[in-house]
Amino acid sequence: MTQIGNKTLLIAISALLTVGIAFFGIIMLISETNSANKPLIYDERIDVIAKQFEWTFKYEKPVQVGDSTFYNTTYNMYVEVGKTYLLNITSIDVEHGFSVPDLNIKVDAIPGKYNTITLKITEKGRYTIKCFHYCGFGHETMVGEILAS
Ligand code: CUA
Repeated sequence: MTQIGNKTLLIAISALLTVGIAFFGIIMLISETNSANKPLIYDERIDVIAKQFEWTFKYEKPVQVGDSTFYNTTYNMYVEVGKTYLLNITSIDVEHGFSVPDLNIKVDAIPGKYNTITLKITEKGRYTIKCFHYCGFGHETMVGEILAS
């Protein structure tokens, strides 16, 4: 009797788990569909271009760094705190991965394709950029920084 009871309980638990996972999957799907349909609202666009073994940033509006004005920078990406940026992430050679661990960002950088995210930094500071796909001999050196001021 106890054995049958245990079995029933096990079946009930696994059924509940299955329904739970399916439900979770549906919610994930819905939120993904929503984000795909919603136009991204942002203040400025920055193209993030990966190549062995560096990151280049092309700004829609030039950035002021000290006395200099730049439309492109390599290694450092300059942003203003509180502004929302559209990042268009791509590669011009092999597959790379754009990651900013402190901001929970991880996006593939793929040749011929633009992966898009929005970025809004609320605290001044420096945030390390790393490549997360092995992309060849200099992969480990493919780092950079977001400088938010
Ligand atoms: Cu680029 Cu690893």
